[in-house]
Amino acid sequence: MTRIILFTGKGGVGKTSVSAATGLLSAMEGKKTLIISTDPAHSLRDAFNIEIGSEPKKVMENLYLQEISVTEAIKKYWDKLKLYLTSLMRSQGVEGIAAEEIATLPGFDEASQLLYIRQYAMENTYDLIVMDTAPTGESLKLLSFPEAFSWYMERLFPISRKTAKIMRPLMKPFLNLPIPDDTVFASIEELYSQMRDVKDILSDSSRTTIRLVCNPDMMSFNETKRAYTYLLMYGYSVDALIINKIYQENSGEFLTKWRHSQAQIIKEIEDAFGDIKIFKLPMDDEEPTGMKRLQKMGKNIYGDMKPWDILSNIEPPVEFEVMGNKKFVRMKVPFAKKENLDLHNRGGELIVQIDNWRRVFFLPQSMADLSPENAEFNKGKLVIEMV
Ligand SMILES: Nc1ncnc2c1ncn2[C@@H]1O[C@H](COP(=O)(O)OP(=O)(O)OP(=O)(O)O)[C@@H](O)[C@H]1O
Ligand SMILES: [Mg+2]
Repeated sequence: MTRIILFTGKGGVGKTSVSAATGLLSAMEGKKTLIISTDPAHSLRDAFNIEIGSEPKKVMENLYLQEISVTEAIKKYWDKLKLYLTSLMRSQGVEGIAAEEIATLPGFDEASQLLYIRQYAMENTYDLIVMDTAPTGESLKLLSFPEAFSWYMERLFPISRKTAKIMRPLMKPFLNLPIPDDTVFASIEELYSQMRDVKDILSDSSRTTIRLVCNPDMMSFNETKRAYTYLLMYGYSVDALIINKIYQENSGEFLTKWRHSQAQIIKEIEDAFGDIKIFKLPMDDEEPTGMKRLQKMGKNIYGDMKPWDILSNIEPPVEFEVMGNKKFVRMKVPFAKKENLDLHNRGGELIVQIDNWRRVFFLPQSMADLSPENAEFNKGKLVIEMV
């Protein structure tokens, strides 16, 4: 089974460098590894000082690099559906290129990249895929897409969740929209089931984990806390945090104040993230680029540990619990504040919204008619009583 590690974090904290170092070390230890960049501002090539393209390129024994081109990903995986959506727009009087633009659902372009991950994972092409992603907000959008997409598709088309087949006879022509022809139907079904595969692969905690990268400054710390909360809310597993660019004792008098504030923040980070593995990485006196320095960085991070191991105890993101005649939903969402939380039951779906991120959970039958009352935080877990 292909192991997948995804690195995310604020802009410039060192995601690409750490992804490169992790992938390189794993390849050197015998794992067939692909490092894949989904950040449109690709810099994987700069980390390795090697020209790479939109298809995997072998750069040494066991190591492959790929910088995805979104345009090619769409061509490869989404073309038919896009054609249908474009004709749909045209039928509504939207002309020319605008129809094509509008036919692109938000997040759709970027999400097509995930279909590469699906393909490699299904075909077992690699032992390990390391994903170097765009800064936090973008990668959260990417990671929340598969679920949002399935949700929309199930409402747009009567799709059977079990077989992923569209129940055609039920589909009524509404608003005079053109009914898609068979090939479009087939491609919608295919996409729907592929996106569900993606979701299953990425939320399977025995194969996919996310590692957060941050720097010891308040802005980065705060963004990391938020990212951690949202990732857990979406059901992803986070197994490590890398604090990068820590100034060392010998970094000179000018940085004295910085060193003090970094030490303080590192302590706070360690307290806040006590439940996951934390790595600390010094600020180097040169950029970690090229195989030699990346290897050194990898060793600095993992020491004798295996980069591909799952480095923390992963708890299930959501638990449904019955205690006597009381029913509870328990979710791990540390750092979320009660005042930023919105909960309600809409027809058997529990909608959880924290800040601008929302997730829909299908409630078990026994809770489908109950509404979320009393929500309390208890040791980083949100305990929702269903009444
Ligand atoms: N430990 C380190 N010591 C010194 N320089 C570092 C260290 N880690 C990263 N850098 C440098 O910091 C810069 C940003 O690193 P990198 O590109 O890996 O970050 P990123 O999080 O991927 O950025 P982006 O958000 O732009 O994708 C690069 O110039 C990189 O070489
Ligand atoms: Mg980067």
